[in-house]
Amino acid sequence: MSTQQFVTVTVEEVTAEATGVVSLVLAARDGRALPRWTPGAHIDVVLSRDLVRQYSLSSAPDEARWRIAVLREPDGRGGSAHLHDRVRAGDNLLVSTPRNTFPLDLGAERYVLVAGGIGITPLLPMAAALEAAGRRWSLLYLGRAADTMAFTGELARYGDKVTFHRDDESGIVDITAELDRRGAADAGVYACGPAGLLAAVEGYAAARPGSRLVLEHFTAAPDAQGRADDRPFTVETRDGREISVGAGQSVLDALSAAGVRSLSSCREGVCGTCETGVLAGEPDHRDRVLSDEERAAGDTMMICVSRCRGERLVLDV
Ligand code: FES
Repeated sequence: MSTQQFVTVTVEEVTAEATGVVSLVLAARDGRALPRWTPGAHIDVVLSRDLVRQYSLSSAPDEARWRIAVLREPDGRGGSAHLHDRVRAGDNLLVSTPRNTFPLDLGAERYVLVAGGIGITPLLPMAAALEAAGRRWSLLYLGRAADTMAFTGELARYGDKVTFHRDDESGIVDITAELDRRGAADAGVYACGPAGLLAAVEGYAAARPGSRLVLEHFTAAPDAQGRADDRPFTVETRDGREISVGAGQSVLDALSAAGVRSLSSCREGVCGTCETGVLAGEPDHRDRVLSDEERAAGDTMMICVSRCRGERLVLDV
């Protein structure tokens, strides 16, 4: 079942953190503490029915308020521009409760964190958690230039555990050499950033079975947008309506065409917004959100990309 709930929060502070990056501190309207979360978690910010965006929580999980950071994306669909240009302290926002698709496992001896640009946000609470737990860790934080890198002041307290690499000063990073230098071949490796960086870290880990890699994906799985052998199937709703899903159609689109509205955002299986409970049938998962255990349980799916292994799914819609 979808576990997402929504809450209206008040923006208490808006702070320029770097060129093109603002942070928003969010508090409950009634002054009570917002729910706790775990490092790596994100929330959905609902800007309109068709504009939902995900932002990692970058404060401390036990703080009463939440902090997110927003990079202005000129080529985006307007979510970041809205938050930069229109949202001010005192405004209310509708947000989801936190969901963690990038959880930190404290079971390793040693950790290497890799951040590219705004990908630093989920790694801030991870660094704090590793420090508090007494683990050995280091962070490589990559950015184009010093003025584009948020939270560098906050990270200074960790001393030489954190390395800042600025392309304009040092050139393009040699990711293999940097990871080798930090002993990533047999460490827990957590990476968040642009697709090119994640692909490089993924390639490194694939060649070194001793490293345990966890990525925060912003890009879809290869089969998310369909495969040549995809077949049509039927979705049944809670009240017994039957809706046909075409071979080249998503469940989300088929439901929408039948007048069944569902919340969605990325439409690529990476954000978790469209998570929907499965009451019967076997999903064919194509997302980057669910864990292996959640996939095996088969009681929830991302309807923007995932399909059906048989002929019928009964969904909690
Ligand atoms: S809309 Fe993002 S996972 Fe489906």
